[in-house]
Amino acid sequence: MAGEKYEWIIGSAPPPLEEHSRVKNKVYAKYLYRYVKVLTANPMHDGLNLTLVDGFAGGGRYRDRSSSVPGSPIILLNEIQALQAEFDLERKKPFHLKANFIFVEKLKPSIEFLRNEIANSIHANGLDRNIHLINSTFEEQCSTIIEKIRARGRAHRAIFFLDQYGYNTVSFGSIRRILAELEHPEVILTFSVDALINYLSTDEAFLKGILPTGLTQDDVLVLLWQFLGDGVN
Ligand SMILES: C[S@@+](CC[C@H](N)C(=O)[O-])C[C@H]1O[C@@H](n2cnc3c(N)ncnc32)[C@H](O)[C@@H]1O
Repeated sequence: MAGEKYEWIIGSAPPPLEEHSRVKNKVYAKYLYRYVKVLTANPMHDGLNLTLVDGFAGGGRYRDRSSSVPGSPIILLNEIQALQAEFDLERKKPFHLKANFIFVEKLKPSIEFLRNEIANSIHANGLDRNIHLINSTFEEQCSTIIEKIRARGRAHRAIFFLDQYGYNTVSFGSIRRILAELEHPEVILTFSVDALINYLSTDEAFLKGILPTGLTQDDVLVLLWQFLGDGVN
């Protein structure tokens, strides 16, 4: 689709990796590693059920100088595989990481690129089994995803990786639903502070709200959250 900042087309070079994506993808990998390690510390346990949702998946690959590097969905797949290999080595009692992956991407060519990446990787066997690709927007799919996770039972864990562009593609209503309706959810939401400040610096309702003198920074922060919850979405 012309004009999209990130698009992946099979047969063409993937988009370049920008510094913020490099850092974000490192955070994803490290967070997931620590999360699983903490939840699996008890050597008596024999498994962990987990759903990993990448709500803004992209094509799964970036151009980086003269080579290429994985995008967030592939990083999640690689990390779970590396963790399972670690368990296989370390544990006397067999331990199974039972991970489901849900990757949502709104652009058809980009999700086709991602399917192709996975099909040509060590994760190919999981395609349409425990790796589900959805060509849609996260907002449209959020309720169905919550239902699917709930159907897997109370012990089922879930992490939502929501790499939105800007600050308001994911509504606070969706975040609230995830937090209220699932048992132990985690949400990692990318938030462009620059875009938000640009928006707020011209928004009359917000400016009126902070004009009264004597407001502390905390007051402004509370206002900001109220404003986001009530006004933007
Ligand atoms: C910056 S890319 C991120 C890719 C991926 N998270 C990564 O780091 O490798 C953002 C992707 O989200 C997709 N996108 C934008 N709005 C979306 C929406 N509302 N729902 C799902 N995907 C969306 C874009 O087409 C783009 O491929």
